[in-house]
Amino acid sequence: MTSPGAHEHDVPLRPGGPAAARPDAGPDFAAALQRLGYQSFRPGQAEAIEVLMQRRRLLLVAPTGGGKSLTFQLPASALPGTTIVLSPLIALMADQVRALEARGVTATFLASTLPGPEIGARLGAMARGHYKLVYVAPERLGAPAFREICRKIPIPLIAVDEAHCISEWGHDFRPEYLQIGELLADLPRARVLACTATATPVVRDEILSRLGLPPDTPQIVRGFARPNLALHVAEEEDRRARERLIDRTIEAALGRGPGARPSGHAAGDMSHGTAIIYAPTRKATEQESVRLVARGWRAEAYHAGMEGPQREQVQARFSRGELDVVVATNAFGMGIDRADVRAVIHLAPPGSIEAYYQEVGRAGRDGLDALGLLLIAPGDLPLRRRLIERGGGDDSPPAPAVVEHKWNTFLELMRWAEGGSCRHDAILRYFGDEGEALGGCGRCDVCRQLSADADDDPEATTLIVRKALSAIARIHRRFGLQAAVSLLRGAADERLERTGLVHTPTFGALREHDAAWLLRLLRRCVVAGWVDFTGDDRPVVVLTDIGRRVMRGELPVRLLLPPRVRPASRDMLPGTGSAGHVPKASSRAHEPGREEPVLDAAALALFERLRAHRMQVASRDGVPPYVVASDRSLRDLALLRPRTRDQLLLAHGIGPAKADKYGAGLLEVIAGAG
Ligand SMILES: Nc1ncnc2c1ncn2[C@@H]1O[C@H](COP(=O)(O)OP(=O)(O)OP(=O)(O)O)[C@@H](O)[C@H]1O
Ligand SMILES: [Mg+2]
Ligand SMILES: [Zn+2]
Repeated sequence: MTSPGAHEHDVPLRPGGPAAARPDAGPDFAAALQRLGYQSFRPGQAEAIEVLMQRRRLLLVAPTGGGKSLTFQLPASALPGTTIVLSPLIALMADQVRALEARGVTATFLASTLPGPEIGARLGAMARGHYKLVYVAPERLGAPAFREICRKIPIPLIAVDEAHCISEWGHDFRPEYLQIGELLADLPRARVLACTATATPVVRDEILSRLGLPPDTPQIVRGFARPNLALHVAEEEDRRARERLIDRTIEAALGRGPGARPSGHAAGDMSHGTAIIYAPTRKATEQESVRLVARGWRAEAYHAGMEGPQREQVQARFSRGELDVVVATNAFGMGIDRADVRAVIHLAPPGSIEAYYQEVGRAGRDGLDALGLLLIAPGDLPLRRRLIERGGGDDSPPAPAVVEHKWNTFLELMRWAEGGSCRHDAILRYFGDEGEALGGCGRCDVCRQLSADADDDPEATTLIVRKALSAIARIHRRFGLQAAVSLLRGAADERLERTGLVHTPTFGALREHDAAWLLRLLRRCVVAGWVDFTGDDRPVVVLTDIGRRVMRGELPVRLLLPPRVRPASRDMLPGTGSAGHVPKASSRAHEPGREEPVLDAAALALFERLRAHRMQVASRDGVPPYVVASDRSLRDLALLRPRTRDQLLLAHGIGPAKADKYGAGLLEVIAGAG
């Protein structure tokens, strides 16, 4: 959905700015840019402003730090009237207001944290047209005085920052955001800009529908490509092996061993980079940093449980280049100001692809080679399930729909981790930033492996998977994945003896495979949605309905078997130097059948038509778009092009109920595509 021209490079400052082409010349954006303290536009900024000015509406998706604020600050400072900016973060509003005021652009913010008289004074000044920008926390939207002023003064633009907060399907839903649609309806003449750093197509559609913007609102998605990041995933259960892998990764990324100080001397010398390790718990941060210090690294832990001054000290030492490694929880991130982070290592997967990409994206901001390593282990799935079911700290357990959603979001990350296609491109696909996909980055572990192994035999795969699922059926609601592995291996196991499972034909049905490989296989069945977990303290496996149908041969097996050889973890790192050589991206042809399906131009066009249809149905029925169909479902449909209801059911996430309710419409769109 990226508009053409979104990827061009630095747009030089030109007289008249982006609006120069318009017949009425428009406001002087060049001068405004300089007034805001910038020399030139960053890639995409001028284009975004142009689209906003011409089409009066824009949904802009660009990564954290991409410079989205300028796309509303610049028009706000140049257009007559007062621009309203909705933002959920008071600290951020205060910062931006300070920066604007320092540049002589009048601005203020309204939030419930301010004393009443102060709010009154600011509203008074706003009513007199004193401000170019007024930042508003969405919970203030209910205040009648504010709404009254909005109706009276000229408002050229309303910017909705962090717009994904309006989406229940997104990762940071804030109910107060739902009021924004009303404000927009109240002020139909204002331009509207919605900005966010993370929004998959389904979330973007939800943003538009909840803001009451038409489905043909222009959308720009850009800047997610990070071709200098070499992304790796390694499954490693053995503690020693994990530690060796971490050590080698740090050494390779920093280009030096523990104890070796960067030449030219340590403090202040940032040229030799640093590494961040994200750990799942506070305790794990401390254990890992102790271990690294013992190995001679200059390492510190960082987490929200530490005293303020102690945290600040770690952050300061990190900034000054006095640390090789910071081992942190996800509390570490805000305000990371070093561009030379050479590696980001995750000791366990975070909750979503969004979270992962944001965290790993802290590596290589300087554009030089950098490494991302995500470590996974068999316990991740049940552990995350428990965390999700426990909810956010308060006593009330989260609603089942919330659990389901979070679980699915996590499974997207696990699907991604399972691999099968270029990791970099897979993330861009997830965000809907297809235009920037590289056709294989050439440096991730999957790209490196893809050429290596070949021989795929669909029938053999089907047989193996069906055997694996039959083991799950027998273990169903009794034991965990390990018991299923023992059953398939035909291994001695007291539980199998006791329950008589040793006497079933499934016992030893896949004895030719080793336990680690079988576990990987079963995990792939989990991410495929065929196997699930239930139970709190001691999760047991469940064969899902789809899983049962796959086992019976009623549904096709579409799964990539785990690689025979050990995965990338053994040889992912070049022995010397940093992230290493990059094979030419263009030399990487897609191997049909091996990769997660990549939509060609025709399929993409159909996907977009299906999206438009989803928006229509959603607004007709008054439901959010994700209720109609997920992005994954629409992608599947665009590829499979089903002609009948039965074929519809082959698409991910389309069951009989959905087929009954929405099937006819979907089939019609697909038939219309020829
Ligand atoms: N054209 C430019 N030239 C130089 N610096 C810029 C330019 N545009 C933006 N910046 C700087 O880039 C930084 C990030 O910008 P901004 O806060 O707008 O990012 P963002 O896209 O809103 O990110 P987030 O998703 O985190 O909110 C700011 O420090 C800003 O001053
Ligand atoms: Mg921002
Ligand atoms: Zn790749």
